[in-house]
Amino acid sequence: MFTAAVLTVSDRSFRGERPDGAGPLAASLLEEAGYRVAETAIVPDEQEEIQAALIRLADEKDIALIVTTGGTGFSPRDVTPEATLAVCRRQAPGIPEAMRAASLAITPRAMLSRAAAGIRGGSLIVNLPGSPKAARENLEAVLPALGHGLEMLRGGPADCGGSRADG
Ligand code: MTE
Repeated sequence: MFTAAVLTVSDRSFRGERPDGAGPLAASLLEEAGYRVAETAIVPDEQEEIQAALIRLADEKDIALIVTTGGTGFSPRDVTPEATLAVCRRQAPGIPEAMRAASLAITPRAMLSRAAAGIRGGSLIVNLPGSPKAARENLEAVLPALGHGLEMLRGGPADCGGSRADG
């Protein structure tokens, strides 16, 4: 069982002006998929604070899968992808590619998500959009493949030769 954390990135939720819908939803989807959600947190749309939270979750808590929600769009304060890539040594572009490919079948606005994914140490960081609907659609698109990636990342029995789609 891998650990997971959910980091909600939202000025309004951080100030208590809007309930955090996507964060708890992502946490419950992760638990349903077999992850142990060790922490959920909310930070404002400030690149430094996002980066500090990601570094803490990866380096101190050694969380296997860190999922962020929000801050992937075009508004001037949407900086979650920049914060993510700044703390990752390696990118995992196939994950946001798959999220956008699946999401474009649902809405053309999927192309407006600038979500990124990358690896810091033994942690995989994946950005999701901020609306609960979009967060669910994006996470469900990639969740079946993430366990195999985490096994490779964390030294588990990763055999890419299998034919299972959910490997
Ligand atoms: N992806 C899916 N699957 N469904 C959606 O409704 N909304 C889009 C996009 N991705 C959406 C989606 C919209 S409208 C925006 S602006 C971007 O995600 C960025 O969202 P964010 O700024 O909340 O991160």
